[in-house]
Amino acid sequence: MKLLNFNNVSAASPRNRGRKRLYLATFGCQMNEYDSQRIAQILHEKYALTSKPDNADLILVNTCSIREKAENKVYSLVGRLKKFKKQKPDLIIGIAGCVAQQEGDRLLKRLPFIDLVFGPQCIYGLPDMLKDVEKGMGAVLHTELKHDFLIPLITAPLSEPNPVQAFVTIMQGCDNFCTFCVVPYVRGREVSRPPEDILAEISQILDKGVKEVTLLGQNVNSYGKKVDTCPDFPGLLHMVAEIPGLERLRFTTSHPKDISLDLIKCFRDLDTLCEHLHLPVQSGSTTVLKRMNRHYTRDQYLATVENLKSLCPNITLTTDLIVGFPGETDRDFEDTISLLKTVKFDQIFAFKYSPRPLTRAAGFDNHVPEEIKAERLEAVLELQKEIGFMRYKSLEGREEEILVEGLSKKNQEELRGRTRGNHVVNFSGPQELIGKFVTVKIIKACYHSLRGKILIP
Ligand code: 5AD
Ligand code: SF4
Repeated sequence: MKLLNFNNVSAASPRNRGRKRLYLATFGCQMNEYDSQRIAQILHEKYALTSKPDNADLILVNTCSIREKAENKVYSLVGRLKKFKKQKPDLIIGIAGCVAQQEGDRLLKRLPFIDLVFGPQCIYGLPDMLKDVEKGMGAVLHTELKHDFLIPLITAPLSEPNPVQAFVTIMQGCDNFCTFCVVPYVRGREVSRPPEDILAEISQILDKGVKEVTLLGQNVNSYGKKVDTCPDFPGLLHMVAEIPGLERLRFTTSHPKDISLDLIKCFRDLDTLCEHLHLPVQSGSTTVLKRMNRHYTRDQYLATVENLKSLCPNITLTTDLIVGFPGETDRDFEDTISLLKTVKFDQIFAFKYSPRPLTRAAGFDNHVPEEIKAERLEAVLELQKEIGFMRYKSLEGREEEILVEGLSKKNQEELRGRTRGNHVVNFSGPQELIGKFVTVKIIKACYHSLRGKILIP
C-alpha cells in the first residue's frame, strides 16, 4: 500500500489552513498511483493530504483487484478504518479503483459504513459525489464505464512539493482479454489520449521540476491504433522525447505481441529514452500462452528479446510471470524455467495464478493445486535470485548516471536513486542532491539494489 501525502508540509501549515484533511491509500499498479495523484489534484482546493487516518475528514482507498490477495488486503484495511467512523461520525469513507468497479453495490452491502464507491473512470466527478454524501442522502455509487471515455486535462497543482519523477497516462483500458486478467472488465476498452493532451500534461509537470516521466497504459504499444489522428506509439515517443526540459523518459506496460522494430529502434535512437523494458512474458510455454490468449509463442518472445539486445546491448529487461495457470503441466513449467535461464532478466515479478471474477480462465478445467503453485513460485524465485544477482554483479565497477530520488529506504542517512537501466542505487551524499543527476561508481551488488560511491556530484 502506498500513501500519498505531503511529507514535509504539516497539516497545520499556513498552506493548509482552512482545508479539510484527506487520507488517501493506494493499492496496486502505477495506473492507480496516477489516479490517486489526480484525486489529490481534483480535491486540492478543499483537502490537504494527511498521513494520519485518525485526523482525516475524508478517507479514500484506491483499490486493486488483479489477484485475490490484493483484493483481500483492501477488505482488511477498510475493516480497520471502521473505528474512525465511530470516533468521528461525519468522517467520509470512500472506496475507489478496480475493486469498487468490480464489486459496486456488493461493497456497500458488505461494508455498510462506507459512504462512497466509485470506479476508475468516475474520479473526475468526485467533488459532486462528496456534495451528495454531505447532503446525507445515503451512500453514493458511481461505476459507469464508457467505451469512449477521455481522460481530462487537469491544471490543479501536483500534490508533492518537489516531484522528481511523474506518471502520465497515455491510454486507458485494455482490449486484449488475456484469459486470466480482470483489467478489461474493470477498466473498460482501450482509449488513447490525444497527443496534444499528453504533451500539454508533460510540459505542465516539467515546469514543476519533474525530470523523469513514465508514460502509462495497460498496453502502451497499441497506443493510437484505433484513432486515425493519433501517431503510433513509436511516433508518440519521438514527439515526447523532443519536449524541452525532459531528461528521462520511460514507459510501461508493454505487450510482447505489439513490440515493433520501430519501437526497438527508439531505444537506440532517443537519448532521453532509458534503457529498460518491462515485457511481461507470463509463461515460457507456447501451449500455456495460447490458453492465456497472449497471441505470441515462446520463440516469438525470444526473437523480440534478441532484437532488443542486438539494437540496445545495455538494455535491462524485466518481466511478469504467472505460475500454476489452469492446465500448466510440469513440462510447461520447465519451459518457463528454461526461458528465465535463456533471457536472464534483471528482475521478475512472479505470481501464483489467482482465479478472477468474469475472466475466462476462472472457468477452465484442471486448476493447479495450491501447493504445486507454491512450489513452482518458490522455484522461479529461487532461480531468479541467482540470475538477478549475476546481472547486478556485472554492473560492479561501472560508472552510472543516477537521478537522485530521495532518501534510502533502509538507511535515512543515505540517498537513493536509479540508473537509466532502472536499478536502485544507494549511496552517501548530501540531501541537496535530491532531484539532481550524479555520476556514481557501482561498488557492490546486492540482491535487489546496488551500492555506489559518488564520483561527480
Ligand atoms: N493471477 C495471477 N497473476 C495475475 N496477473 C494478472 N492477472 C493475474 C491473475 N489472475 C499478473 C500478470 C500481470 C501482472 C500485473 O499481474 O503477470 O502482468
Ligand atoms: Fe490484462 Fe492482458 Fe490487458 Fe495486460 S494485456 S491488462 S494482462 S488483459
